[in-house]
Amino acid sequence: MAERLIKSNKIRIGDISIAYHIKKATEKTDRTIIFLHGFPFNKNMWREQLESLEDNITGIAVDIRGLGNSTKGHGFFSIDVFAKDLGAFLRKMEIDKAVLCGVSMGGYIALRAYQLFPEKIDGLILSDTHAKADDNAGKQKRFDAIQAVLNHGRRPYAIGFIANVFSPKSIEEKPEAIELIKSSIRRNSVSSICATLLAMASRTDTTDVLSEIKVPTLLIRGKEDKITPAEPMEEMAKKIKGATYMEFEGCGHLPNMEDPAKFNLNMNKLLQKKS
Ligand code: MLT
Repeated sequence: MAERLIKSNKIRIGDISIAYHIKKATEKTDRTIIFLHGFPFNKNMWREQLESLEDNITGIAVDIRGLGNSTKGHGFFSIDVFAKDLGAFLRKMEIDKAVLCGVSMGGYIALRAYQLFPEKIDGLILSDTHAKADDNAGKQKRFDAIQAVLNHGRRPYAIGFIANVFSPKSIEEKPEAIELIKSSIRRNSVSSICATLLAMASRTDTTDVLSEIKVPTLLIRGKEDKITPAEPMEEMAKKIKGATYMEFEGCGHLPNMEDPAKFNLNMNKLLQKKS
């Protein structure tokens, strides 16, 4: 069996340069999966998923505009802009169709992408995310977070974040995952963190698209997720025809890092299904 290496690359698209990790299929393939990270992380959170992909699948983990090693371009961030960046990335990479796997903010982007170019998407894995826009209290929380980052910097923000993101079990047992997330937060610039908070505060509700989804869909939620409640995910499961919904015991907001074995097993099952 040919060895499959994960390579890192950059590609120029419009006003930005998008950084990505890629693991190419060794067999002739018509299946690609694109990983979309959450806020304020980067593509490195998907390493264990890339490693586990079967030989007939190409996997690509991108850095969203302004985060990780992707440049920020014009600096006016929105979930709509991130989804359009993804569409441009697919065109430039000559990818006809892809499965989108997004966690949290990555899921907001995947759902907006499904509204914009459903013909390019042939499967969805949505983890710890939902279709609702922020209500006023949610928006105010984003504005408070912007003030906190501007006043005190990224470090205290990163520390506060960890307690919310991981389950108590993961905090005890997953020091490497915690370090990776802490350093991802600290590597993003203050301006990109704040611009991404505004992007999430201004996002539109994508509930209407749920009943239009016609591709295999897997919904995953960490049972101890303090950020994404169960109710909007259960609603997604009801509205997306044929969707599978799973809750992972012992996981918080990032099941792909907290229980990668279980996540990968179910991801690989979905990747072998055809829409
Ligand atoms: C994320 O992990 O992407 C964020 O928690 C999403 C959010 O704050 O809505």
